[in-house]
Order: sequence, then structure tokens, then C-alpha cells
Amino acid sequence: MSETVENQVSRLRDELNRHIYLYHSKDDPEISDEEYDTLFAELLRLEAEHPELISGDSPTQRVGAPPSEGFASVEHTVPMLSLANARTAEDLLAWEKRVRGRLEKADIDPGEITWVTEPKIDGLAISLTYENGSFTRGATRGDGRVGEDVTRNIATIEALPKQIDGAPPLIEVRGEVYLPIAAFVELNRRRAEAGLPAFANPRNSAAGSIRQIDPAAAAERPLAVWSYGIGVTDGFEFETHSEEVAWLKEHGFQTNPDTAAHAGIEEVLERCQWWLERRDELDFEIDGVVIKVDRLSLWRELGVAGREPRWSIAWKFPPTTATTRLKGIEWNVGRTGHLVPWAMLDPVRVGGVTVSTATLHNEEDLERKDVRAGDEVIVQRAGDVIPQVVSALPQKRPQGAVPPVPPAVCPACGTKIIKPEDSVFSICPNRTGCPGQIFQHIKHFVSRGAMDIEGLGEKQVSRFLEEGLIADVADIYSLKREQLEGLERMGAISSANLIAEIDRSRAVPFPRVLFALGLPGVGAVTAEALADEFGDIEALRSADPERIEQTEGVGPIMARQIAESLGEDRTWKIVERLRGQGLSLALSDADRRPEGGPLSGMTVVLTGALPGMTRDEAAEVVKRAGGKVTGSVSKKTSFVIAGESAGSKLEKAEKLGVSVLDLDGLRSLLDGDLPSGQ
Ligand code: IVH
Repeated sequence: MSETVENQVSRLRDELNRHIYLYHSKDDPEISDEEYDTLFAELLRLEAEHPELISGDSPTQRVGAPPSEGFASVEHTVPMLSLANARTAEDLLAWEKRVRGRLEKADIDPGEITWVTEPKIDGLAISLTYENGSFTRGATRGDGRVGEDVTRNIATIEALPKQIDGAPPLIEVRGEVYLPIAAFVELNRRRAEAGLPAFANPRNSAAGSIRQIDPAAAAERPLAVWSYGIGVTDGFEFETHSEEVAWLKEHGFQTNPDTAAHAGIEEVLERCQWWLERRDELDFEIDGVVIKVDRLSLWRELGVAGREPRWSIAWKFPPTTATTRLKGIEWNVGRTGHLVPWAMLDPVRVGGVTVSTATLHNEEDLERKDVRAGDEVIVQRAGDVIPQVVSALPQKRPQGAVPPVPPAVCPACGTKIIKPEDSVFSICPNRTGCPGQIFQHIKHFVSRGAMDIEGLGEKQVSRFLEEGLIADVADIYSLKREQLEGLERMGAISSANLIAEIDRSRAVPFPRVLFALGLPGVGAVTAEALADEFGDIEALRSADPERIEQTEGVGPIMARQIAESLGEDRTWKIVERLRGQGLSLALSDADRRPEGGPLSGMTVVLTGALPGMTRDEAAEVVKRAGGKVTGSVSKKTSFVIAGESAGSKLEKAEKLGVSVLDLDGLRSLLDGDLPSGQ
């Protein structure tokens, strides 16, 4: 018999209240935000159909005003990027060197580079759109491409200008929403008085408030925004980042008064120390310093690697640490069979979060640190990174504590473990049948940078495996809504949503599908390079390791492993089934280097500043004409395209007798097929 509506409503309320408690108070959510939103939406729907069931204690009624429905998605026109981290002075110097090297490679002499430093606010990234001077939309970063529309909550932030004078028709301001520490302390005091549990840290309460379904609840917390940049603009250009920030300040945005410009990297290093010393005096939490190249033309030239701009880096403060007892060590099997040791800890608070497990990385690390069950250990947590055990305190070691030994058989499937000589890991060799490896493989397949199937988290994957609904990644695409609805705690809406998400993922482009397949060593960037090099999976499969090795970023070992893996029957069967389900296993014609293009088979080197075109744009033009762009001139180079102030590459081309063209020359090669006006 099906559950009564009354029961369903009461069950959903209990469940939501429990998750609210886990998220806000315990800082230990059991479900993803998306799953929470789905449950919430389900409760809203039932209450709308049966208003007589609405009661004051429902999570939908928690704070005054009626809740809005869930959040709509917002696609960011300019992606919201993340930042690479530097942890030491060496890291920073190495970054500076890379920046210089890259500019030099492009034959650009930047002279003395001006750097800007800003505090790295530990809050929530936000995008603020103004149309004809009026605030029209606030969106979270989400995965960088698509965020959530949180306009109504953002609108409650008093200090944020809702109207700006002298603005262009369209401008998108980027910044960080945060809760000042004083406000956080006061909020917790009030909550304690009202008998409510305390929030764990300002960041979480800020993030929680902005993602509140109910704007009245957001309004209750005095959130603030530091603005640090501009995304989309319409007919508006700045020369430097400092100018952007100055413009923001002039137009009523709060910009950090301690944002500073520096002439050399030494000064940047000093500034980082300065921030570290001031950290605890500030009324907002920061977790590092953001360093940016000031000149925006250099941003365009340096470009983006993956999701991180090359023109900026975050110098992260040393991580927070705590001491606790190591209860024991467990071994987990990874996607490629590696056994990873995990520390089971007495729960301890580190950097605002309770930690009860931490990684011990690998056997070698374990041995080097000499960590034993029963030890007092130092645990460290840095940002979003998995907590790790830094070291043991041997002076406190209990008598009889023995060094850990990796298991003789796989904890997931019982197969005898092997230890290759050249590896720091013991390995479960049961590549095709080990449930532990299968689980990790599926988890990787559905993850963000891969097929990005929202709502199919770790918990669902293991549940579906346990229930026998899936046995490998291809099975995901045969899941039926009715099968999911039959499961405990999967309502009609969540099931339908998940099926829609799975369907949506069929459109994921080939490079990401290739990454999702989880071939040994193939990360997102290599997957993209392989896709570009081979165009489709058949071509990659029939290539021998020597040929695969010609791909940028692929060495001989990886090349051999890729060939072996794609040569395996089991892998190929899965690939075939995925193809049958409509996944892209080839680049689209638009993305493919055309075979018969005017530059087909040619290798081209770009040098100097090309008038009216960035390097990426020029590379795209070459690619579309069938050519390949490489970084250095050799005898194999078909020709060099030289722009203004071209340097060493031009010289080398002349020395080797390689032909040199300017943009006009390229244009005639392409038969006028170059964007006009260049
Ligand atoms: S610049 C270019 N400037 O840090 C991409 N980000 O790790 C980054 N953040 O998502 C934007 N303070 O949420 C920038 N002064 C600052 C920042 C800052 C905090 C956050 C931001 C971003 C994350 C990247």
C-alpha cells in the first residue's frame, strides 16, 4: 500500500530537519546540496497540493516569508575560474618564472611586470549582473560554468549597490560574499539564546545563507561582499586590473582597501607575510593572498589552463593542524587497484570542521612517517583538501604499538595483493572483478570534470551497486525511473531528476567522455590532447604506443598503458555499449581538425603579437584549417606566422630556412578564410 500524503510530508520534514542540522550545526552533511534541494522541492510540492498539512514546524516555513521554489540555473558567459595554489615562496617564484617564460615564448617582452595582491577571502564566489545600471541578477559560482540564481538573497545585502550611475549597458561584477566575524559571533550568540545550535564557521553560514530558499532568512544575517573583478562587460575596456578595482570602488562597490600593486615579486612575497601576520586582526576570514598580473592584455596572452588562469595564483596560508589519536588504519582500494591507507581518528576539530578519517597517502609515506595504530598524530586540513596525517608523536606512543602491514588480500574482493617493485602502492590485480575498483571507477565516471551527473553521488553509486541496478558505467544509461522509485528514500521527483541528468550527460563532448573512461594516467588535460590528436576513439585504439606518445603530455609508460587498456576486451565492450547509448566517442566535425583543410598535415609556429588577434584565436584559425600549432621551431615546422616584435623563434626559422608568413600571408594561404577586419 502506498504511503499516505500525511506520512510522506511528515517523513520529508523529519528528514529535511535532520539534514539541516547535519549541514549547519554538525558541518557534516550526509547528502549533496542538490539532493537536499530535491527533497525540499518535493515537500513544497506536497504542501502546495495539500495546504491543510502546512504547519509552523515545517522547514519550508522556518523563517517568516513564504519560500521561493528551488534555484534556477545560470550559465556564466565568462566562466568563473578557480585558482592554482602556491604554498611556499619557491612555488611563487616558480610561478613568476612560468609567467615570464610563457610571455617570452610568445616573444612578448613584458618589461617589469606589475603584480597586484589582494586578500583571499574565505567566503562564497558570486557573480552580480547589472543591466543599464540596475542590479538584475546574482549567481553562485556552481561548477564554474553553471551556477545558481540567488538574486533574491543577494538583493538582501544592504551594502551592495542596487543601482549604479554611469554604468555600461551590461556589466557583471565578481566578488566574494562573506559574513563578518563579529556578525558571526553575534549570530551564534542569538542562536544560543534561542536554544538553536551554533554555526561552525563564518564561511559555512555565509554559504548557507546565500543558498537559503527563503530570502528572509538570508536577510537576517548581515552578509557583505568584497568585489574584486569584472566578468562580462559591454563596450567597456580596462587596461589593468587595478583600473577595474578602482572603477568598482568609484561606483559604490566595497573593494578591499589593502589591495596593492607591486613592481617586483620580492615585494609580493613581503606582502604575503604581511597578510599572514595581520590575518587574526581582520574582521573577516582569509585563507591566503591572491596575486594577479595587473595588465589585462597579458591575461589574454597567458590564458587559462583547465579551470585556472595562468595570470593569477593563490598563496595559501599554512594549513591548520590539530592533534588526535589514531585508532587504526584501514586500506581502501582505488580506481586502478592501488591500496590506499586511511587513518581512523578520534574525531577532532581542525580548521572549523570535525575530522574522523584522514589519508595516509601510500605505504612509502606511512613507513617514512612511522605512524602506528594507537599513536597521537598531527592532522592537517587545508581548504578543501582531504585531511591528512602529518606525523606521529612517538614520545607518546603506547607500549606494544606495531608498524602497520598492508593486507595480504584485497579488502574489497579478497584477491591476493601484489606489490610491483616500481610502485609505492600494493595493488589488487583483480582489475575486472573487484567491487572496490568498480565502485571507484563509476565514481570517477560520474564526477564533475567527467560526465558530471548531478545527483549520482558516492552514496547512490554504492547503493545502485548493492541493489544490482548497475555493475559498470554503461549500466547507468539503462536505468529506468521505475527502478529508482522502488528504492527507499527515492521519491518520484528525485528519480525523474536523476534520469533527466543521466540523459543530459549523453551530450557531454568526447574529450570529457574520454577522461571519464578513466584510462590509466589520463587526466582531463591529457584526455583533451588525445581527443585533439586522434579525433575519435577508434583512431586512438588502433594507434600503437609510439604513435600515442606523440601526444602532448603523454610519456612512454602512459602511452603503453593507454594502448593496453583500450586493447582489453572488457574496456572495449564498455566503450561499444556507451556508444550504443548515444555518448560521443568522436569529436564533432566543428571541433575536428579537418582532413582536407588548406593547412592539413602542416605544423605551424606562432610568434610575436598578431594584430587584432590573441594567440588562442590564431591557433584556433590554424586548427580549423587542419593545421597543428606547436611551441618551437624545428626543421619539421611547415611555416612560422610572425607578428609584431617577434624574437628568437623568427631568428631560428630564418636560420633553419623555414618559411615565415605574416597574417596577410596566412590569409592568402587560407584563401581569405580568416576572420575579417584583421
Ligand atoms: S580572483 C580568477 N580574487 O578564490 C579566478 N578570487 O580559488 C579567481 N577568492 O572562486 C577569482 N578572494 O571565490 C579572486 N581577491 C580574490 C579572491 C578570490 C577570494 C576566491 C573566489 C574564487 C576562489 C579561487
